Amino acid sequence: MPDAHILGIESSCDETGAAVVRSGQRVLSNIVASQIATHQPYGGVVPELASREHLRAIVPVVRQALAEAGQTYQSVDAIAVTQGPGLAGALLVGISFAKALAFALEKPLIAVNHLEGHIHAVLLEQRQSENGDLHFPVLALVVSGGHTHLYLAQLQENLWTYRNIGHTRDDAAGEAFDKVAKLLGLGYPGGPIIDRLAPHGDPQAVKFQIAQIKHRDRRDHKLGDHKLGDHGPLPAAEDGPHVSGPNFDFSYSGIKTAVLRYVETEKLKPAIEARRQALAGIDTPTLEDIRRLSNRQILNLVASFQRSMVNDLVMKTLAAARAYDVRTLFVSGGVAANRELRATFEREAAMQGLPVFFPSRALSTDNAAMIAAAAFPKFLRGEFVSMDFCADAGMSLR
Ligand code: KG4
Ligand code: ZN
Repeated sequence: MPDAHILGIESSCDETGAAVVRSGQRVLSNIVASQIATHQPYGGVVPELASREHLRAIVPVVRQALAEAGQTYQSVDAIAVTQGPGLAGALLVGISFAKALAFALEKPLIAVNHLEGHIHAVLLEQRQSENGDLHFPVLALVVSGGHTHLYLAQLQENLWTYRNIGHTRDDAAGEAFDKVAKLLGLGYPGGPIIDRLAPHGDPQAVKFQIAQIKHRDRRDHKLGDHKLGDHGPLPAAEDGPHVSGPNFDFSYSGIKTAVLRYVETEKLKPAIEARRQALAGIDTPTLEDIRRLSNRQILNLVASFQRSMVNDLVMKTLAAARAYDVRTLFVSGGVAANRELRATFEREAAMQGLPVFFPSRALSTDNAAMIAAAAFPKFLRGEFVSMDFCADAGMSLR
């Protein structure tokens, strides 16, 4: 098979990304224009501003990706773009641009699910490092600002299929990090800030309870009564009454409320307001600025919050891995960049004898290399879309 160069485009949320990946395994370029500065004053992504920033960034970002890869519009073999899930207006910018390129250049166009992209960020680097064979079934935790989803992944003849066996019932894990950071006046986006502050606090200082969702087996087995260990093909459909096996759901809106309650009980609001104002007065606050403005009680609170989140994510994912007798674990999405999460997964999965793979930190958060990588098996299968395909803001992964 000759090499295929795929130009990937990603614009589902607040990063405009373009990348060229060779044959699903070699990243030739990976450009990400971040909109953090635009959304920072609002403490969250403002959809209209995101669309506007994507419009501004898309042409230079794609040009730079091609130039760094030593490619041209004419030389790439296909254009891949994120179809969803994401913000509709933001997705449309990437999709319209990809359609225009594919039409003008007469190149095949490939639509990619953003969540599949996150999973392929792991596969890309795993192939790149020629890390040996992948053992199935694979369980993938996709944990980001919009998702906390568990998928069983299967591959047959370049066709990847996914089965969702758990998801958040309310807030995604990254959303909880962002909301708690906002609540504590620490800045935006919260995940990376909390990640860096947490080692300075005592993770045992505040006890948080995270809601444990009752697992309901679709065929009324009790958890642990059986294992799906036949390693055969998995149903391609999303969970439904016909699918057996327990599900492992998450819930993170409660811990956010618990942090708020702690803030009220401990009367932390004046100190939080003072920090918010002090940070607003600094042009681009550094982590050192944020730390200097955070007292011991706040650092302890942040460390305890992160410890609870990490323990819950790891515990539930490993319980799912045992129940489905999986042989490989992937952890991807923005929150997979979290140091404590990585260390805890590595330690706990090793105790279970389970190999765990993460994308490098650069490929954990949104990027287009993962989109170009996920498109490669579709390219091999000739799975192209026509010019009338649409953005799908609520797209599920199957
Ligand atoms: O995958 P991503 O870039 O965008 C979505 O698809 O949502 O994930 C962004 C999310 C944000 O909530 C951000 O706070 C979180 O990932 N995040 C982190 C870290 N880096 C990014 N959360 C915890 N620790 C980090 N180091
Ligand atoms: Zn993402």
